[in-house]
Amino acid sequence: MTSSGPAKVPQHIAIIMDGNGRWAKQRGLPRLEGHRRGVESVRTVTNAARELGIRYITLYAFSAENWNRPAEEVSGLMGLLDFFLKRELNTFIKDRVRLLTIGRTSALPAGVQRELNRVIEATKDFTDRTLVLALNYGSRTEVADAAQAYAAAVQDGREKLEDSSWDRFSRYLYTAEIPEPDLLIRTSGELRMSNFLLLQCAYAEMVFTPVLWPDFGKADLAAAIEDYNKRERRYGLTTEQIKSGS
Ligand code: IPE
Ligand code: IPE
Ligand code: MG
Repeated sequence: MTSSGPAKVPQHIAIIMDGNGRWAKQRGLPRLEGHRRGVESVRTVTNAARELGIRYITLYAFSAENWNRPAEEVSGLMGLLDFFLKRELNTFIKDRVRLLTIGRTSALPAGVQRELNRVIEATKDFTDRTLVLALNYGSRTEVADAAQAYAAAVQDGREKLEDSSWDRFSRYLYTAEIPEPDLLIRTSGELRMSNFLLLQCAYAEMVFTPVLWPDFGKADLAAAIEDYNKRERRYGLTTEQIKSGS
């Protein structure tokens, strides 16, 4: 919290859920066991976020680069995703959580796409809480896809080249309907973005924690929010301008 203002709850938290493999290795377990525990952290953290009044939470669940992992790990992750969607559907409905995805989901296994569509359809009218899963997501492919869609729109006259702006272009990103993250959290001690929401996090506050994702819980989320509340978001202005509300 800043010295003057009340505690702010970020509207949108994005999380790079990292460290499942190391969590498992430390215990002599297969990597997939770490991912399995990671799914339980997803449940814990989404519940905690809901209780704290966070409206949007985006979870980096599978990157465009993660396809290059051993085939057994990739298929294990897809199986877990399928399991998660089946298990959580009723909870999403009960808690009125809307599910959205970002990423090239058309490359996911057909069964997973079916489950995704089922949950998205069943939760599409909820407006208070949104869970966004980044699946086969990468910022660079997102920009390439957006550029292609934007160019097509210019070509058929829906967009005018002379009106080009970030505001217009950003409507072609996967995140068109989603506000920008206020807070980005990465677990497991790595200090990098790994191709996640690079443009959308232009002004996000970042919190890096050494905690491995399977160990990340409600207290860790609360600590990250507390850290966020100590920051002054200046967006290029001076402290004096921020204080005077100009
Ligand atoms: C994050 O954990 C989960 C995914 C990338 C799917 P990792 O599997 O990357 O865990 P580490 O980084 O190897 O510990
Ligand atoms: C980022 O983690 C992707 C997800 C959390 C899904 P990685 O473990 O794949 O990232 P790098 O390889 O360490 O950069
Ligand atoms: Mg990792």
